[in-house]
Amino acid sequence: MTDTPRKQIVLAAYVGGVNEETLWEAPGAGSQIDFSTFRHVARTAERGRFDYFFLAEGLALRERGGQVFDHDIAGRPDTLPVLTALAAVTEHIGLVGTLNATFNEPFELARQVLSLDHLSGGRAGWNVVTSFDAFTGQNFRRGGFLPHEARYERAEEFVAAVRTLWDSWPADAVVADKAGGRFLADPQIGEFAISGRQFDISGRFTVPRSPQGRPVIVQAGVSPQGRDFASANADVIFSPYHRLPEAREFYDDIKARVARFGRNPDDLKIVPGSSFVLGDTPDEAVEKARWVRDRQLSDRAVQVRFEQVWNRDLSGYDPDGPLPDIDPDPEAAPIIQGRAFVHQDRFETVRQWRALAREKDLSLRGLAREVLGRVAYVGTPQQVADQLDDFVQNDGADGVVIGSHLVPSGLDEFVDRVIPLLQERGSVRADYDGTTLRDNLGIPAPGRGAAAPSAFGNASPPAVGVA
Ligand SMILES: Cc1cc2nc3c(=O)[nH]c(=O)nc-3n(C[C@H](O)[C@H](O)[C@H](O)COP(=O)(O)O)c2cc1C
Repeated sequence: MTDTPRKQIVLAAYVGGVNEETLWEAPGAGSQIDFSTFRHVARTAERGRFDYFFLAEGLALRERGGQVFDHDIAGRPDTLPVLTALAAVTEHIGLVGTLNATFNEPFELARQVLSLDHLSGGRAGWNVVTSFDAFTGQNFRRGGFLPHEARYERAEEFVAAVRTLWDSWPADAVVADKAGGRFLADPQIGEFAISGRQFDISGRFTVPRSPQGRPVIVQAGVSPQGRDFASANADVIFSPYHRLPEAREFYDDIKARVARFGRNPDDLKIVPGSSFVLGDTPDEAVEKARWVRDRQLSDRAVQVRFEQVWNRDLSGYDPDGPLPDIDPDPEAAPIIQGRAFVHQDRFETVRQWRALAREKDLSLRGLAREVLGRVAYVGTPQQVADQLDDFVQNDGADGVVIGSHLVPSGLDEFVDRVIPLLQERGSVRADYDGTTLRDNLGIPAPGRGAAAPSAFGNASPPAVGVA
């Protein structure tokens, strides 16, 4: 029998932005906008040898029935300046930001992310999202701008264009002459010409080649198009599936798609969002987790989360009563706006939830605890290390994007008490063994001009003019 090598758990740290998972009123909670919050979490994660620090993108305040959420903290800073500031106060940890491909333009985004990559010594990553609704689009263009499928076609063409720009400089673009001056080795440097359905741009790109080949591409989105897009183009997927068996189904599905695109399945890492509660004893941890969940799942939070799936006003339903006996109403105008939605088929989701509620005799709140909460790991440090390691070694995922209900100091005890146990058994590195985000993740640096497969056949290769 041959021993299968232990998978290294990919670890990312996440600051919950505006959601009910972070208990902003809890004793010790900080600010959602002050730089000290981000600095504390990023440095703590670096102390725990995490692969990267991750930020979501919030382009619109979330609304219910036209009013800003009244149970939610509102307002958060833009992702890129925060990550850039973090580059100055960290050394090894990757810095990954969510930026959408629907409302941005390739030249500008390529410059920004590659600049972050240089300023951080090769630690930048871009989480490509397509954004979810016309509501968000109102801030930028004419409402919806593009239907869902066309958004992914644009995203793929966008990513291909960005790759072309990132590859437009050779690594040795600048040479020093005998007098010590620095000049361009090639006067055609940075030239590009990209022409496709979405973009028709040409010129010279302004930023030299990445210290890690190219910044890392992350993706978040679970539709069939999203899965294909990620399997062809991404290095990492930020997934919403942190529980078996659905996590394993997603994992198997994605790894098979990656292979179909002719890529090595190990080169795409899958990391679900997750959270934890620790206690000195199992009972203490369970008790604490109940306290956390009760605060996360306030009456209003339960109502709003389910309203998003039913797409109906559920204010008349008791959160401690049974599930609504009516069907979802997908045709009505969205009652909840500006919140990512991961349930592909509302009717099927509700059917499964009803079955679960019947089987376990659950109220709406009880169901929310089962299906909506993110607290995946509850126990003593040893139990949490075991659960997390089992989840990854059994291919539920390649790692986790971990957040705490307490921001910014909640991650400290995970790093101090759980990480050493994972290091002891060889599932987390004892120290960083490289300098870039690609080194952290153990994924190869692409060669200049290396082709990527195309999910939609419209973006590979774009008309490229790599000088
Ligand atoms: C786990 C996860 C995290 C996401 N985070 C963000 C985000 O931070 N900002 C954002 O605008 N959209 C986010 N999205 C949503 C995407 O913008 C959008 O819903 C997705 O790309 C649409 O793809 P899909 O239909 O394939 O799910 C997220 C989606 C998922 C699944």
